[in-house]
Amino acid sequence: MYLLIPAAGSGRRMGSHRNKLLLQVRSRPIIAWTLLAAQASDQISWIGIISQPHDWQDFKEIIADLQLTKPVELIKGGSTRQESVYNGLLSLPANAEQVLIHDGARCLATPDLLNRCAEAICHCLGLIAAVPVKDTIKVVDGNGIIQSTPERSQLWAAQTPQGFDVKLLKECHSEGIAQGWEVTDDAALFEKCGYQVQIVQGEETNLKVTTPQDLAIAEFILKTRFE
Ligand code: C5P
Repeated sequence: MYLLIPAAGSGRRMGSHRNKLLLQVRSRPIIAWTLLAAQASDQISWIGIISQPHDWQDFKEIIADLQLTKPVELIKGGSTRQESVYNGLLSLPANAEQVLIHDGARCLATPDLLNRCAEAICHCLGLIAAVPVKDTIKVVDGNGIIQSTPERSQLWAAQTPQGFDVKLLKECHSEGIAQGWEVTDDAALFEKCGYQVQIVQGEETNLKVTTPQDLAIAEFILKTRFE
């Protein structure tokens, strides 16, 4: 299974002047933990890291340090996640029929989750890992006034991996460009084009490291996992 890892973001919300994925958690860069999970997944056979060229030297050193045995390619990132994933899709080997896309910032996803998503995408056209939301979610307008309260039992929090039929996802990205759609995940493009996206049970610990608080939580989870 081909795996694309969007890793071309900045550290803005982390308050960092560099790519947050290069920050250390439990003595390794965040991206290294993501790569170790990909390496440990027996379903993943090829890894494409989508990142900005100014980070490539750092990424190359991390890849060498981890002694990954799977083929790894560096792919140029875009100015949004959407653009980065599109670049990744265009860089996939020609024979890639399905792809998993997994955010570099979700460094706590387990090899088991990657395996389950890789197996499931062979039986559907689009999927995402997700977990039921625990909080009651409010839809709020620009003045801070609640507009509605969606029924909680129908709400799931989207994670990655997300998996897709490559040909269809490329078409959805092209349509997104033509229509000027701006989305924060690939499932949204798939949905907008009218395709079904299947939920795969995600993991409560599969958080996206975004803020300094998330770094502390990731540190704690990795400590309990590997001690
Ligand atoms: O910013 P956020 O954490 O939501 O980004 C999700 C993932 O998308 C991260 O792994 C980040 O590195 C990646 N990304 C990207 N290209 C961008 C912006 C974000 O690959 N231009």
